[in-house]
Amino acid sequence: MSHSITNAKPSHDQAFLRVIAIDGPAGAGKSSVSKGLAKAIGFIRLDTGALYRAIGLAALRAGVEAKESEGLTQLLARLDLSLQGETIMLNGQAETDSLRAPEVSRAASDFATLPSVRAKLLDLQRMIGQSAPCIVDGRDIGTVVFPNAPLKIYLTASADARAERRLAELKQQGVEADFQQTRAEIVLRDQQDQNREIAPLKCADDAQVVDATELSLIEVIEACSQLAFGVSGLVNR
Ligand code: DC
Repeated sequence: MSHSITNAKPSHDQAFLRVIAIDGPAGAGKSSVSKGLAKAIGFIRLDTGALYRAIGLAALRAGVEAKESEGLTQLLARLDLSLQGETIMLNGQAETDSLRAPEVSRAASDFATLPSVRAKLLDLQRMIGQSAPCIVDGRDIGTVVFPNAPLKIYLTASADARAERRLAELKQQGVEADFQQTRAEIVLRDQQDQNREIAPLKCADDAQVVDATELSLIEVIEACSQLAFGVSGLVNR
């Protein structure tokens, strides 16, 4: 499957939307849970954080600051962002590890506060989410992108547990990081994501809250699968 941001058009198909929205703060395990759940129930997965990261990365490379400006308008107009399967392609090049660097995390959060950036990504997210049964994870999926999703999950965990997880993830990539600094960065990103004016991170009124602090990954996937099977017509048995 290949989707390009340049020709993104949401469909107006009124068929039952087979989207599972997973929102929650940084490091709660949305990526691992979405991957595992997608495999378990045969859905595709859209990591919307990676789209914001791609814009952050493109802006860092171009030296564009995180504020509305002519430079940002031009960057967004020229942006060649697409998906090959689940891989993000930026200007024809696959981006994977480059999207996970700490400075790109910060840039993603900074650029995600800007209306022009959010508007740019909205249609692309809707088009992909409607193209196939899909798990979409991010910050505003259940509140803004797919407010009609038949299942919304708000995945959270304590800041300590999230920092531990992020540290282990970085270690796997060969990056040594300090616990307190990692925790502080996560808390700062939470504050910025929760307090921005547009589409802030928040739990939708009709979301199911899953607290992963004391649960293993398998247990969280199991809990989410149960929720998915509990929605009539959502998952093919
Ligand atoms: O999920 P993540 O850590 O990869 O997301 C990176 C940043 O992108 C996050 O700090 C906020 C932003 N983001 C957003 O504003 N809305 C989304 N739906 C997904 C991510």
